Amino acid sequence: MQKKMKWVMRSTVNRTVSIGATVALLALVSSLMSGCVQQTLQVSPATLSIHPPVENIHSAYVVMGEGGKASARVLTSAVQCPVIDIDGTSQAMRVRVLPATVAMRGDPASSKEAAFPVLTCEANLPAGAARASVGNIKLQVPRAVIHRIVLIADTGCRMKAADNAFQDCNDVEKWPFAQVAQSAAALKPDLVIHIGDIHYRESPCPPGNQGCAHSPWGYGYDTWAADLFIPARPLLMAAPWLFVRGNHESCARAGQGWFRFLDSNSWSEARSCNNPKLDTEGDFSDPFTVSVAADTQLIVFDSSKAGSKGYSARDEGYKKYVPQLLQVGALVKSGQHNFFLNHHPVLAFAIAKEADQVKSGNEALQSVMNLVYPKRLFPEGVDLVLNGHVHLFESLNFSSNHPSTVVVGNAGSGNEGSLPQPLPAGAQPAPGAVVENFSTRSEYGFATFDRVDGGWELTEWDVMGKAILRCSFQAGKMVCQKI
Ligand SMILES: [Fe+2]
Repeated sequence: MQKKMKWVMRSTVNRTVSIGATVALLALVSSLMSGCVQQTLQVSPATLSIHPPVENIHSAYVVMGEGGKASARVLTSAVQCPVIDIDGTSQAMRVRVLPATVAMRGDPASSKEAAFPVLTCEANLPAGAARASVGNIKLQVPRAVIHRIVLIADTGCRMKAADNAFQDCNDVEKWPFAQVAQSAAALKPDLVIHIGDIHYRESPCPPGNQGCAHSPWGYGYDTWAADLFIPARPLLMAAPWLFVRGNHESCARAGQGWFRFLDSNSWSEARSCNNPKLDTEGDFSDPFTVSVAADTQLIVFDSSKAGSKGYSARDEGYKKYVPQLLQVGALVKSGQHNFFLNHHPVLAFAIAKEADQVKSGNEALQSVMNLVYPKRLFPEGVDLVLNGHVHLFESLNFSSNHPSTVVVGNAGSGNEGSLPQPLPAGAQPAPGAVVENFSTRSEYGFATFDRVDGGWELTEWDVMGKAILRCSFQAGKMVCQKI
């Protein structure tokens, strides 16, 4: 059976397009499930670089990993991996993981098996590669020089029965990630960093709820397509991505898809999240670095399994995070400036029930970090910390010896409110962390980090790509001002 599907993304996403994208998604997923193998995606050449369309390929993107190694990834409904052309030399991409329906994760009373009816293919991009393509799909090789980084986090459409939280996935104003991706792509980044919580559709949309009607749910490919591969398409095609794992990608939740599609290391059954008995391996990943300038490197830390209360020495989190934090101490020595990336804020505030109050940073991580790096929580040499998890933008610097912190969790998933500004007197995100400057913004948007005059400058943008805050980063101090 063959089917043709048209999906036209316009230059300005609006509600009509959102519904159109949803319909396209449903057609895509429905045809995948029914064994149809041929799709035709028609996308405006002004927006994307696929033109004309390529058969069978559903997504093509580049994942950055340890030491700046780049892995090209292709998701296809074909039975074989395609050929990749790298600087004029063709080779077959290798199978990363075969299509499969895998063990149910999540709450057995309300979950289901996860179907992945796509073949995941990969190929290493050698350092210095100038061009890579699969058919007529151009892949984004790592840039020799990085001028602009896009920062996003917390992007999927929340559907979670346990919290009675159902975002209007069919309304681009209520779930604006597609527009965020398009606006961010238009800024021509050299690298995109997603700081975790990509997958959100864990429960079925309740009957009669038109806001999320017809949405896929669960941990299979259809939800990954709906939450990431379709809405993020312009941005996936704009630059390589560095993925930082969030709690939504832990093994008990969407970890199976995380390892199939996004983890930068090789896929293995032992770390696939398919067997809960192996979660202690799958839930913790070694930290790694990616250089973004001669004097600046990123340290990527997997905090997906972080708890909420301080650890004791018997806790698995304690046993895993302590040696990994010691590894971070060794990694910082290879960078003049180090930016630490993990999902859960350690030195930033979360929203409290009372509008004039705040909650502190993650106590579980603080407990082990204070053990390894007393008081500062991070080793000397970490100048900046980038987080997600809290669904807003937040920037802090400290008069105490703590690294500046930025939270970019406002890129699409359900808005959860705002933080008081000014902060309550004496509020500290961690004991002894004395806030000197604090900025926050609760509306949806994204951030960029630009290399300017040998330093870095951060900008917070609204959904449509209008600059709202500009933040200088001088001598380790992030200070934001309204534009
Ligand atoms: Fe989170």
